[in-house]
Amino acid sequence: MKPQSKPIAIGCDHAGVAFKNEIIAFLKQNNVAVDDCGCYNNDSVDYPDIAEAVCKKINNGTSDKAILICGTGIGISMSANKIKGIRAALCHDYFSAKYTRLHNDANVICFGARVIGTGLACELVDIFLTEEFEGGRHAARVEKLMNLQNK
Ligand code: RB5
Repeated sequence: MKPQSKPIAIGCDHAGVAFKNEIIAFLKQNNVAVDDCGCYNNDSVDYPDIAEAVCKKINNGTSDKAILICGTGIGISMSANKIKGIRAALCHDYFSAKYTRLHNDANVICFGARVIGTGLACELVDIFLTEEFEGGRHAARVEKLMNLQNK
């Protein structure tokens, strides 16, 4: 795992607590600092609240990258992408996790805890935290993408 300059912010709703704990253990084993924004038990919570708490860590400079988890990964990724400055990618395969960094400069990766296993998710986290944005022709596209948040 590539060393990270800032802690990785992570959060989940009630569907993803055990899943999140396994991702946190994987990150710690690889000497990556983690900022766990909850939730911490199976009591029902609303995924937009978790997305907001985690994405705030990126927007206030505490973290450069974050991980979000809900049952499908859909609600929490939709929520994150409503927040200015956030490029959240729902990735359940190797190719998407790699190319969302190379081409989209994604700063949040999202998972569905009811969709994939944690073994695969840990591999995808590793790719996500290792690959770098390619820039070049993708830079103007990402700029256009970010301008959509002002429409
Ligand atoms: C919670 O039951 C579930 O709806 C949520 O985790 C997520 O799958 C929503 O997109």
